[in-house]
Amino acid sequence: MADNDTTKDAAEYGIGIPVPRHPFFLKGLDHVDWGMKNRLSRIFSPKSGNTVMLAFDHGYIMGPTSGLERMDLSMPPLIEYADCIMCTRGALRSIVPPTSNKPVSLRYSAGTTVLTDLNDECLIDIEDAIRVNASALAVMVAAGSRFEAKTIANLVRTADLAAKYGIPALGVTAVGKELTRDARYLSLACRVCAENGATFVKTYYCESDFEKVTATCPVPIVIAGGKKLPEDETLELAYRAIQQGASGVDMGRNVFQAGHPVAMIQAIRAVVHERRSPKEALDLYQTLQHAKP
Ligand code: R5P
Repeated sequence: MADNDTTKDAAEYGIGIPVPRHPFFLKGLDHVDWGMKNRLSRIFSPKSGNTVMLAFDHGYIMGPTSGLERMDLSMPPLIEYADCIMCTRGALRSIVPPTSNKPVSLRYSAGTTVLTDLNDECLIDIEDAIRVNASALAVMVAAGSRFEAKTIANLVRTADLAAKYGIPALGVTAVGKELTRDARYLSLACRVCAENGATFVKTYYCESDFEKVTATCPVPIVIAGGKKLPEDETLELAYRAIQQGASGVDMGRNVFQAGHPVAMIQAIRAVVHERRSPKEALDLYQTLQHAKP
């Protein structure tokens, strides 16, 4: 039982001092639950408002992609520099040290490979996502494809389950051969994700009118890198995306297939968090190539 004899009289009531308010730093997310905000604040930097996510979930559809043949060797040196990792539960359990202590955007939908029809996906068990301490659940949405209904239903289901446990749902806009990667399509796909419960959205940058994609999406957008580009073009892409309203990147191949992946992720961080120019970031990339590990 608490000892009441020595209790100091309460005196600091702060009468007249308003209770501090804590507006949330990510757009459209003022009204989500505390747990979700806490997880989002681990993925996105409250200081810059942005994130550098490292995606290496490619193997679940593509098999041993270049740069990911031996994830146990190639990924740990990069994970150190990521704000969040995006991977499958298989990769997580087999090659990511639990002590790395990075938030995990777990690949939550799966089901087909590049050998058959993409996006005919199912969801994994929410209990397993909680077991691996997921900070976000990433679900593919293929608007405009013949799997549209199924993938949107997957997102809706994920958003319901994730909200129950305070976990953000990440809507990943798929692009297929038949889908055009332009602002009109990407705006539609991102908006569909947000309105169906995605806490944030992953999409692609487009050369024309990308700011319309970010402006019309009520929640944060992060961009994938897509196929490997020359390093200077990747840094330019990241820079433009951030300038035009993206809240970060969720990049894979343009990091782990770069000539010097560890230098590359640091150069991308300089663009995303410090808003360094592509030229400055390229200089940093070149300097870091010669840095001792
Ligand atoms: C997306 O659905 C994939 O699973 C990857 O996570 C995504 O494409 C990001 O990787 P990359 O930057 O290589 O396109």
